[in-house]
Amino acid sequence: MRTISGHHLARALGDWSRADASGPAYVRLASAVRMLIFDGRLPLEARLPGERELATALGVSRTTVTAAYDLLRDSGYARSRQGSGTRTTLPETGGTDPAGGYFAPFAPDGSAVVDLAHAAPEAPLQALNEAHAAATEQLPRFLTSSGYNVFGLPELRRAVADRFTARGLPTTPEQIFIASGAQHAFSMVLSLLVHPGDRVLIDHPTYPNAIDAIHRAAARAVPVALTDDGWDIEAFAASVRQTAPNLAYLVPDFNNPTGHLADDDVRRALAIPLRRGRTLTVVDETLAELPLGPADGEPPAPFATYVDNGLTITIGTMSKTLWGGLRVGWIRAEASIIRRLAAVRASFDISSPVLNQLIAVELLKRADDVLATRREDIRTRRDALMAAMGQALPEWRARTPCGGLVLWYDIGAPVSTRLVTEVERYGIRLAAGPRFGIDGAFERRLRLPYSLPVETLRHAVPIIARAYAAVADSTGHVTDGLGDLVA
Ligand SMILES: Cc1ncc(COP(=O)(O)O)c(C=O)c1O
Repeated sequence: MRTISGHHLARALGDWSRADASGPAYVRLASAVRMLIFDGRLPLEARLPGERELATALGVSRTTVTAAYDLLRDSGYARSRQGSGTRTTLPETGGTDPAGGYFAPFAPDGSAVVDLAHAAPEAPLQALNEAHAAATEQLPRFLTSSGYNVFGLPELRRAVADRFTARGLPTTPEQIFIASGAQHAFSMVLSLLVHPGDRVLIDHPTYPNAIDAIHRAAARAVPVALTDDGWDIEAFAASVRQTAPNLAYLVPDFNNPTGHLADDDVRRALAIPLRRGRTLTVVDETLAELPLGPADGEPPAPFATYVDNGLTITIGTMSKTLWGGLRVGWIRAEASIIRRLAAVRASFDISSPVLNQLIAVELLKRADDVLATRREDIRTRRDALMAAMGQALPEWRARTPCGGLVLWYDIGAPVSTRLVTEVERYGIRLAAGPRFGIDGAFERRLRLPYSLPVETLRHAVPIIARAYAAVADSTGHVTDGLGDLVA
C-alpha cells in the first residue's frame, strides 16, 4: 500500500482552496482530493496523510481536514480502518451527494457524461459489422484448439507485419507480438525490460497512462521538455548523455497531447544520441496513421527506420484508427525480444481473444478505405472544435495539429484542475493538464480531444467556457472579454 505524505498531497492539490469560492473550505478540499483520485494522480488504496500532517502542509485548521476526510468517506471516496489510516477508494454505486449537489459522480454506466477525457472515436459501423460477420464465419476452425495463442494469431501477425512493410519498414511476422492494445503492450515491455529504480526518458508532456505504467514498474520518469515547436534536439541529446536512461519512451507521431509530429530530420537527429547511448527505445505509434493535413508531403518514415532494429521497440494499436473496443494492439521488435515477451505475457492475460483478432485481420484488409473516410471525419471535427473554441474562448491558444486527435490549449492561467472539477458538475469529463506531466506541471494547459461528433463538441464548448468564467471569476484570473462568453 502506498502512503502519501502531507507534502506530496499538498503539492498535488496546488491552489485547491480557490476551487469553488462559493463552498466551504472542507468541501473544496474534499472535491480537489476526489479530482486527484478520478484522474489517477492519487492511486486507489493509497494511504492519505494523517489529518494533523495534512493540515500543517496546507496551512489550514485540523477541523477542515477532518471534515474533508469525513465528506470523502461519506461519499465513498475514502475509507478508514483502525490502525491503517484513511485510504482512497471509489464508491461502489457512484457515490452519494452529501454536499448538496457538489458531488456529481459519473453514472456507473457512463451515461449522461460527455467523455472528453479519452481521445478515441466510435467504431466505423459498416466496416466493423462486415468484419465481424467474416470473422464469425472463420471462428469454427479455431474451436477445436484451446484458443490460447500467446504471440497472437499467425494471420494477424502477418497482416500487421505487412502493414509495417508497406509503410517502408520491412517486417516479418516473427517480429510481431499481438497485445490487447498499446497500453497493454507498453506495460508488458516495461515488465520485461525495466527494473525498480531504472530511468525511463519521456517526452514532457506525454501520454498519462504511460507515466502511470512507468511508476507502477517502480521506475523513474526522466522528462525532456517538448517546446512549442516539438523536440529540442540538444536538450534531448544532453539528457540521454547525462542520465543514461535504461529505456526511452517516445510518441513522435502526433504526440499525445501536443500533436507534434517529428519529421524525418528530427527523427534522424533524435536517433543519434539513442544509438550512441545504446538506449532501448519504445516508440508509441498509436496515432501514426491519423495524419490530417494540411498536407506536408509524404509522412515521415517509421522511427525504427533510424535506429538499429535491436534498439527500437515499436508499439501500435487499432484503438484510434479503427476501434478502441476491440482491444487489439501490437509490438514490433527483434524476434528475440518477441520470444521473451511470451514469458511475460503469461502473468498478464495469457492471450488475446480469438474473435477480436479475426475481426482485426478483416478490418486491416479494409483499413485504407476506412481510414480515408475516418480522417476526413476527424479533420471536420478538429476544424469544428477549433472554430467553436475560437468563438467561445478566443484568448485560449492552441496550435492546429496536423494529425492525431487532440488540441493542447494554453488556457492563460494555472487553473486546469479547477476547471476540470467545475466542468464535471455539468456532465463533461476532461483530463486536466497535469495528468500529462510529472510534478504538477501543465496547470496552464488543457487537452481537448476532437474525437467525438461535431454536435457533441459544439454542445461541450459553451459549457467549458462558462465553467472557465466561473473559475476565473473565483480566482481573480480574469481575462479580457470574459463577460461576453457567458451565455
Ligand atoms: C499515445 C497513446 N498510447 C497508447 C494509448 C492506449 O491505446 P490502447 O487503447 O490501444 O491501449 C493511447 C490512447 O489514448 C495513446 O494516445
